[in-house]
Amino acid sequence: MHIFSTKKDLINCILTHKANNRSIGFVPTMGALHKGHLSLISTAKKKNDIVVVSIFVNPTQFDNVEDLKKYPKTLEKDIKLLKTVSCDIVFTPSVEEIYAENIVSETFSFDGLENQMEGKFRDGHFNGVATIVKTFFEIVQPNKAYFGQKDFQQLQIIKKMVKKNRLPVKIKGCPIYRDEDGLAMSSRNIRMSKEQREVAPFIYKTLKKVKKKFGTKNVTEINEWVKDQFKKQPLLELEYFTIAEEKTLETAEIKESGKKYRAFIAVFAGKIRLIDNIRLKK
Ligand code: PAF
Repeated sequence: MHIFSTKKDLINCILTHKANNRSIGFVPTMGALHKGHLSLISTAKKKNDIVVVSIFVNPTQFDNVEDLKKYPKTLEKDIKLLKTVSCDIVFTPSVEEIYAENIVSETFSFDGLENQMEGKFRDGHFNGVATIVKTFFEIVQPNKAYFGQKDFQQLQIIKKMVKKNRLPVKIKGCPIYRDEDGLAMSSRNIRMSKEQREVAPFIYKTLKKVKKKFGTKNVTEINEWVKDQFKKQPLLELEYFTIAEEKTLETAEIKESGKKYRAFIAVFAGKIRLIDNIRLKK
């Protein structure tokens, strides 16, 4: 496994693989790797000759300084894990290597996707994500890039950014990887206290019940029901719950035929923010 921290060294290596007609799969991460990341890498391994993983805590996508400071950094452990899934190349640049003196985002338009859900609560977040993902695509030049569906809005936004900028990369959304008790895997999970971790599976349990209710109840009834459930959970604070159309991510007021829906949720366990979502069937 090769580890590069400069763009120049990585690009030289990539160009050699390209010259040999090897396909490149890319998994961008912010480190603190877990089984969810490893499953993305294993999928990428099956479909590409070479897999590149980046580990970079991107400052421009954090709207909260505290969250950025506390973001877990476990590089040595990450490298060991990456060897277990036969990752080929790891890119671990510094902030200066990527942004030089200018730690700011580009401004994008994602045709309104950015104004929904996470966009309402995390100022500038998606400009930061799109800036770093576009930069990495330019450096890594992947044929395919892999993203988890836990960050479903991010996935849709990256697809939109790729389409609008006509970038030559296929975006692959992969299923949410869950712990045995249903909690969606996230690098932030390790920051929870024992008590918070014990109650956190309530999020997915609630989403599964929402999926059942969606067959018989209307959207307003479900929204009210979810709010009530979280009022009974002192360790979890509901930030938002929304049923939205998959394509536009616009909040659904009523169920329309021919449209696909998902339920999206953001919850605080103390200061740790957890998100999740589930596909709904009418
Ligand atoms: O999903 C993440 O971990 C990050 O948003 C990403 C895509 C690696 C960009 O920093």
